[in-house]
Amino acid sequence: MAAPLHVSFLGDDRGEWRVVRQEAVVGEDLAPVARVAIEEGAEPQTRRNGAEAWILRGVTGHQRYVERREAEALRAVQAGLGRAEATCAALIPIRKSSAWWELAQDERRAIFEERSQHIAATLRYLPAIARRLHHARELGEPFDFITWFELAPVDVPRFDELVGLLRATEEWRYVEREVDLRLMREQ
Ligand code: HEM
Repeated sequence: MAAPLHVSFLGDDRGEWRVVRQEAVVGEDLAPVARVAIEEGAEPQTRRNGAEAWILRGVTGHQRYVERREAEALRAVQAGLGRAEATCAALIPIRKSSAWWELAQDERRAIFEERSQHIAATLRYLPAIARRLHHARELGEPFDFITWFELAPVDVPRFDELVGLLRATEEWRYVEREVDLRLMREQ
């Protein structure tokens, strides 16, 4: 797999992505911002534009739960980021509870997939929705994960359906903070 990529999401007033909706699903909200900028690099970013209300940092990494046949199924259908038609995005930072982190790996996998079907139930939304998962817990950040999704405007209702489906799972009982930001790309 590719080397870890450090990614920062800067909530400010001049990023490429315009915020069209922001909702604190559970727990504390983030300060409202007009735009989000994304910076990527091999090292953690230090650059600041001085106007940001917040910066969410994460890093891509190896997959923790995916089994071989799931990896193959995902690889066969998933789309990459940056498609011209994918002008809508969702930035959903998530923190799970200490109860989740106290579980053993096999217990977490059982909740994540055997009982919540995080992969089996969401695969059918691909390739319309492209995604990238960033880990943040290890960086000492306020969220454990920064999730990022890109889609065409026509697929927004299906994305809403998918998010609703996940939020009703056993896995989501362990989510103690979640903010849902929806964005549109604007140069
Ligand atoms: C578009 C369809 C989706 C697919 C195919 C998908 C697939 C996956 C897969 C394969 C993993 C496991 C990565 C690993 O093994 O470490 C994962 C993790 C995760 N996904 Fe999704 N996902 C989708 C949508 C979503 C959505 C909409 C959200 C948020 C609302 C979300 C939040 C997360 C989180 C927080 C994790 C990390 C879980 C953990 O490590 O405890 N996913 N996803």
